[in-house]
Amino acid sequence: MENLIKKAAKDLAKSKKVVVLTGAGVSVESGIPPFRGKGGIWEKIDPMEFAHIDSFMRDPAKVWNILIREMKDVIEKAKPNNAHIGLARLEELGILKSVITQNVDGLHQLAGNTDVIEFHGTFAFQRCLKCEKKIETSKVCLDEIPPKCECGGILRPDCVLFGEMIPPEHLFRSGKISRECEVMLVVGTSAVVYPASIIPVDAKESGAKIIEINPEKTPLTENISDYIIMGNAGEVLKEIVSEVELLL
Ligand code: OAD
Repeated sequence: MENLIKKAAKDLAKSKKVVVLTGAGVSVESGIPPFRGKGGIWEKIDPMEFAHIDSFMRDPAKVWNILIREMKDVIEKAKPNNAHIGLARLEELGILKSVITQNVDGLHQLAGNTDVIEFHGTFAFQRCLKCEKKIETSKVCLDEIPPKCECGGILRPDCVLFGEMIPPEHLFRSGKISRECEVMLVVGTSAVVYPASIIPVDAKESGAKIIEINPEKTPLTENISDYIIMGNAGEVLKEIVSEVELLL
C-alpha cells in the first residue's frame, strides 16, 4: 500500500486537472453509515420501500419516521473527516478541480471544496411538494410527521430518490468534466448505482487515469481502474496529501 500511495501522490502532483467522484464510504469515518455492505442502511431497510419516490408519495410519514428522521439526526452531528479535509487540501494545492459526490451530507463543502456537484441533490434543504419552497433542514420542526411547509404542503428531502431523474445540469456538467480530466480519484463508492457508476468509465474512455480508494474491490477495479488503494478514505487521503506536499 505504501508504494501505491507514493504512486498516487506522483500521479496527482504532476496533474492540474483532477476530479474526484465520491460515495458514501467517504463519510463513514464521519459516522454516517454507507448504504451497502457491513452496517449499510439497505441491509436494514429495503430501498424500494423507503427511498423510492412512489413509496414516499404513498406514505410520507412512514418514510420520514424510518429513514429521513434518522438521516437528519446523523447528518446534523457529522463533521468532515480526514478524507474530506484531504480533498479540500488538494484543491488548495491547485491539483483538484471539482468534486462529484453522490453524498447529500454537505461535508465536502464544509471541509472547503468550492466546486462540488451534488449528483444526488442535497439533504441541507427540504422541499415543499406543493409550492416547491425550500426550507433549511436544520430549521424543520419534527413535532408533526410528515413535517409541513407554511402553505400546508408536505416536505420532502431535496435529494434524488429512486425512480427520479438526476438533475440534467448535474448530469451534463459531470459528463463534461469527467471527459476533460487527466486523473479521476474514485473514493468510497460501490459504483453500482447508475448513472453515477458510468462517470469513471467516461473518464477512462477519454484518457484519464483512474485511481480508486476503497477497502473493498468494486466492479470498476479490474476493468476500469488503473489501480486501487485498499484502505479507509481518511487514512489513505491523509497520507497521499502528505506525500504530494513533499513533491511540490
Ligand atoms: P455504497 O453504500 O453503495 O458503497 C459504499 C462504498 O464505500 C463501498 O464500496 C465500501 O466498500 C466503501 N467504504 C466503506 N467504508 C469506507 C471507508 N472508510 N473509506 C472508503 N471507502 C469505504 O455507497 P454509494 O456508492 O455512495 O443513492 O451508493 C450510491 C448511491 O446508492 C447513493 O448515493 C444512494 C444509494 O442508494 C440514492 O439514494 C439515490
